[in-house]
Amino acid sequence: MEVVLLPTPEECARVVADAVAGSVLGALAGGGPLVLGLATGSSPLLAYRELLRRRHQEGLSFTGVQAFLLDEYVGLPAGHPESYRAVIRRELTDELGLDPAAVHGPDGASGDPLQAALDYEAQLLAAGPVAVQVLGIGANGHLGFNEPGSSLASRTRVKTLTEQTRIDNARFFGDDVDAVPRHVITQGLGTILRAEHLVLVATGVGKAEAVAAAVEGPLTASCPGSVLQLHPHVTLVVDDAAGSRLARATHYRYVLRHKLAEQGW
Ligand code: F6R
Repeated sequence: MEVVLLPTPEECARVVADAVAGSVLGALAGGGPLVLGLATGSSPLLAYRELLRRRHQEGLSFTGVQAFLLDEYVGLPAGHPESYRAVIRRELTDELGLDPAAVHGPDGASGDPLQAALDYEAQLLAAGPVAVQVLGIGANGHLGFNEPGSSLASRTRVKTLTEQTRIDNARFFGDDVDAVPRHVITQGLGTILRAEHLVLVATGVGKAEAVAAAVEGPLTASCPGSVLQLHPHVTLVVDDAAGSRLARATHYRYVLRHKLAEQGW
């Protein structure tokens, strides 16, 4: 896995935007559609703003892009402002010019969430591989909403959030933990691994332990992020704070300084 260790969150955002824009431009040049995997949460927000800047100032076009979300809360009514579909439209896809019909996510409002999870897995398979999947990581190492203990081979399904994740996410619900749904539909770790390129961004010291465990710890369901070690093309973009527990930080910086131009992201 390529670990890109940079001083500031803003520099991280530019690298994530470069990776996404590279895929978009490559797909357009090849005349094909692009399947883009999107995470919600705080981590990718600066990168999303950078993509919007490139659209407005540099004419980066997202025409023909189909976007797929990682996860969704179960039980929030469709259109609830904190449903991940509403969040991603507000933060990114509306302003990118994507038709809402091209923004897909699990149907967390379904009366049958188990079936909705199966349907979403089927929809992802039919859409073809996700070309580039943007990821964040939880402080406990979760990827998507695959909490510690999740099968490394899992598919899209209903999961129960840990209390810590609900507490972490209460900030989006007026700091009311009780308002955070207990259940989610999330792409499984095996589902996420099908994407062609995984780009994970993490910033801030609160993520340092999870990042170190994912990159340098053992491959284990106890740290879902460690499943990245199985994927052939991972770009892990972290600021100095999130990378502060990495034992091989000096080496990652050395590799980055000596990266060949043709290596790309
Ligand atoms: C969001 C998601 C989660 C977040 C993670 C980090 O779609 O799947 O795994 O990426 O909880 O959240 P933030 O970025 O808010 O710290």
